[in-house]
Parts: sequence; C-alpha cells; structure tokens
Amino acid sequence: MSVPQHFGWFLARGFGPHGWGHPYLDWDWRWTSPELYQQSARELEQAGFDFVLIEDAPSLGSPATIDTRVRHAFGGPKLDPLLLAPYLFQATTHLGVIPTVNPAATLPYTAARQFSTLQHLSGHRLGLNVVTDTGSARHFSDAPQLGHDAAYDRAEEWLAGIRALWRSWGDGALVADPVSGVYADGTKLDAVRHRGEYFAFDGPLNAVPFEHGEPVIASPGGSGRGLAFAGANSDIQLALAPLTEKSVREYRARIHAAAVERGRRPEDITIMFAIQPTIVSSAEEADRLVAAAANPDDRALTLIAQRQSSDLETDLTGLDLDAPLDPSIFGEHVSQGSIRRLTGDRDVATTPLRAHLASLARLGRISDRSGFVGTAEEFAELVEELGEWGNDGVLLWGDLHPVTIHRTLDELVPVLRRRGILRRDHVEGGLHATLRAF
Ligand SMILES: Cc1cc2nc3c(=O)[nH]c(=O)nc-3n(C[C@H](O)[C@H](O)[C@H](O)COP(=O)(O)O)c2cc1C
Repeated sequence: MSVPQHFGWFLARGFGPHGWGHPYLDWDWRWTSPELYQQSARELEQAGFDFVLIEDAPSLGSPATIDTRVRHAFGGPKLDPLLLAPYLFQATTHLGVIPTVNPAATLPYTAARQFSTLQHLSGHRLGLNVVTDTGSARHFSDAPQLGHDAAYDRAEEWLAGIRALWRSWGDGALVADPVSGVYADGTKLDAVRHRGEYFAFDGPLNAVPFEHGEPVIASPGGSGRGLAFAGANSDIQLALAPLTEKSVREYRARIHAAAVERGRRPEDITIMFAIQPTIVSSAEEADRLVAAAANPDDRALTLIAQRQSSDLETDLTGLDLDAPLDPSIFGEHVSQGSIRRLTGDRDVATTPLRAHLASLARLGRISDRSGFVGTAEEFAELVEELGEWGNDGVLLWGDLHPVTIHRTLDELVPVLRRRGILRRDHVEGGLHATLRAF
C-alpha cells in the first residue's frame, strides 16, 4: 500500500554559480539574479514539494585550499541563502524555504530577529538548516576553532537562546486592542538573561510572537553527536544512509531514540533521505548509462578528484592514483562522514586512490538497488518501498535550475501522484502544517 511521502529539494551547490561545468550553462540564466531560483521554486511548488533547502558554507574554506575550491566553483563562491529566501517566498505561496545557517556566523539576538522577520513575512514558511562546520571560524573572530562536538554544543546553546528570545513574548503580552489603544503589555515580556558558555545576551526580543509556530529546524549531522542534536532540536532530519530496509530502519530508530531521550516524540521529526536520482526515459537508456560509467578513464577520475578535493578541503589532485591514501592528509575539521563517502568499506591502508575515485564515478541501477539511475517508475517503486519501511520522505539532490528540475521531475511527478505517494494539495498554515499533514 502506498504511503504518502514528503518531498524536498536540496540545492546542493548553495547559492552559487549554477550551470557551471554543465552544457546547460548556455541557457544563460544569471546565477546572481533571483529569476533563476524563482522559476525553479514555482515548479517545485506545482510539483507538490514541501520545501527547498539551500546548502551553504560562509567561507571559501581553509586558506591552503581556496584555489582547489574555487577553480571549478565546487566550493564557492556562494551568496547568502538567507537573503535569497524572501525572493523565493515572493514567487510562491506554500513552498517552504530552508536556508542553511551556521551558529558561528550570527549572534543569537540578531539571528532570532532576522528569522522572526522572515517567518512573519513568509506566512510561516521559513526553515533553518543548522550546520556546525567550523572551517569558517577565522572570519568571525580570532578565537580558536571549536572541535566537532563542541561546535554542536555551541549550536544547541545558540538555538536554545534564539528560542528563548522568540518565546520572550509571553501569553497575553501582545494585546493589539484598538479600543483601549494598548498595543502590548510590557510586564509580560521575559527579560531572557542568558549567560552561557558561548553566548551572553539579554532579551526580550524586539519582535511579536508567531501565529503558526516557530521556524522549522532541519539538521544534517550523521555522527552520534549530530543525531543527538537532531533528537533534541530538529523538525526535519536530513539522512544519508544506504537505502536497505535494515539501514533505513536502524537510522530511524537511532533518531527516534535520540528524540525520546530528550523528552520529544518520534513523530516530532520528519526523517528525509537524501537521494540524487538520474531519471531516464527507458530501462535501456539506464543500462547504457551504467555500462558507459563502468570503467572510468583518468579524465573522469580527475574530475571526481577535483570535486572531492573541494568537498574534503584536501587537495587530492596531485596524489599518486595508484598509491593508498594517507588518512593523515585530512585535517581534523574534515567530517569523518565525508571521508567515508570517499573510501566506502574499502581498506584504506591497501586500496589505491584510483579505486576509491572509480567507485564514485561508477553508476548503478535503481532496479537492482546498485545505484540511482532508472526510470520514473523504478524510482517511484524505491520511494514506495521506503514508505513501507516507515520512512517519512526524500530529499532530491541537485541544482535549483529549470533544466535539472525538469529532467528529474517531468515524468516523475505524474508517476508518484498516480501511486498516491506525492501530495496533490498544499495545506494552509505554513511549513509546520505542511510537515504534519500526513
Ligand atoms: C543532505 C545534507 C545536507 C548538508 N548540508 C550542509 C550545508 O549546507 N552546509 C554544511 O556546512 N554542511 C552540510 N552538510 C554536512 C553536515 O552539516 C555535516 O557536516 C555532516 O553531515 C557531518 O556531520 P556529523 O559530523 O555530525 O556526521 C550536509 C549534509 C547532508 C547529508
């Protein structure tokens, strides 16, 4: 039986040079102008998606690897997705917009005020993807860079502070009674005196309460500490895990346990698995694509090495393809999850770099669950199966570009709708209501 699923779009490149490195660059959209994203956001709304989530990093990365990161525009430049959000809200009426924010970059009071403003302006459609990357620390102060778990501790304190400020207008504080002329009862405002490990500030917040809930919190961390953060704080967890029944159920159980441990309910968190499918028009075309990628040549491996170098902030392009990777080349701040995505289950001490890169270059078929190339029907079947295992939704991964959106969704939307997996109607009441509609 089909179980409806939530769908989100992950704009994985962030607010950056869309189309760069692809033939569709010659469509001549300007990546610095809002029209490109507005056009795509309208399509996503029509397609019944809950939200678009915009990746971000506030920095070009460590000084030593800036050239690696910008040369092919994998790691930057990126404009600020929080400031793109209003343009997307204006172009749509129901779509949620979830920019990525980093607690290192904004003080809680400023953040609470900006997010509150956007939540009101958007009809309660704002979400925040809270990430804890510390590589950009040097842009904000000369304090030492935090370690992995400490960055999560700081994020929890930041978010708790923001929420205290949002809640600083207690019940009855907002009066807005034109008859008496009283706008607010200042005695009901909470002064929020916060003195924490990372932040110190006073309230109350100079903003009014929300009518349809606070901005939605999303989080992508996969480590034990990351999952604990999600359990305590998140409305949406972005999941990366093998899409087998065992692994999906285990991942969900870990998030649910983390939620219960922090006094929340499992159903408070919508878990969405990130997938980048290549949807093609026939099984034969899918087979052809997979066969063509089976034995990647050195040029293909170099392209993968360039992208990985940017993602891992570690230059792999000069390394001997036939020698094993030395794990000490990765800085302490590089996420273990990202390194594992490169090395897979292979033995790092004995496997040549070539084998890791080739494994990323190879494609697999959705039909035999070896990869994500397939027809709309095959992909719909996979999503349907995820639903049967109790899953809440999927996050499709790609550029927010009309070409990418159409390539992925033209056939998929009708197929998903006919199977009853994809919503036909949006609900009123903002992003929380959208997530709780089923
Ligand atoms: C779907 C998805 C989206 C992500 N988006 C971002 C992002 O926009 N910015 C960022 O710095 N990290 C992003 N990350 C990386 C996570 O923030 C985090 O660094 C990574 O998952 C490792 O976290 P962990 O150490 O808790 O496992 C994303 C990860 C996933 C799976």
